[in-house]
Amino acid sequence: MRRPLMAGNWKMFKTPAETAAFFEKFLPLVGASAHADILICPPFVNLAAAVQAASGSAVGIGGQNLHWAKDGAYTGEISGGMLKAAGCRSVIIGHSERRQYFGETDETVLRRTVAALDAGLQPVVCVGERLEERKSGRTNDVLAVQFRDGIAKLTPAQFAQVVIAYEPVWAIGTGEVATPAQAADAHRFLRSQVRGVYGDDAAASVRILYGGSVKPDNIRGLMAQPDIDGALVGGASLDAASFASIVNF
Ligand code: 13P
Repeated sequence: MRRPLMAGNWKMFKTPAETAAFFEKFLPLVGASAHADILICPPFVNLAAAVQAASGSAVGIGGQNLHWAKDGAYTGEISGGMLKAAGCRSVIIGHSERRQYFGETDETVLRRTVAALDAGLQPVVCVGERLEERKSGRTNDVLAVQFRDGIAKLTPAQFAQVVIAYEPVWAIGTGEVATPAQAADAHRFLRSQVRGVYGDDAAASVRILYGGSVKPDNIRGLMAQPDIDGALVGGASLDAASFASIVNF
């Protein structure tokens, strides 16, 4: 049985003071939510405030990206060891916004994923097709390549630590959520890719999250799909009541 993971990606929103205010409202709303793992990924400068505010709760904190080097002359970058030392449990890798605006490739996704694992962080690796790729019937081809080049080169022991997030690019921030059936198709396809490389047990165990315009009013339909193991939520994770209602679907 896969335990759901409900994750919030705050992207480039909130200050440390706003982070503390969020947790003050959010923690009482999810204090009894033992059915799922809960993760919040704020901007780097808010990690200390988030870790402090969430301490003593079951809510985990994660980064939104990391560099693959342990340390070095890489101005502006953050390492896995730094995230771990700051109290992070997890890190998002290969988000489509990183791919689209910051030159992320499947190759750099893989390097970051290995670095996260080496630092003892749980990687949440994002894949997903763009609108034109879906329209031209290439969704599965795109997912297959992202999986093959960005994830499938991990050892089985490494892969066992990974969470996959399926985020169709056309559904991110657009209000146009994938239908539960569309999401389920993609999740089933990704699970079949996992099965092909890592076998039945790994396919049965890996958690695959859906992301893209998840809201309190569409989470239940998504979570009713057996292959959807949680959500990676952007905009709706910024408000404590809204994200709590998603967590408590
Ligand atoms: P929205 O929930 O705002 O569409 O963002 C989804 C996302 O990109 C989460 O990583």
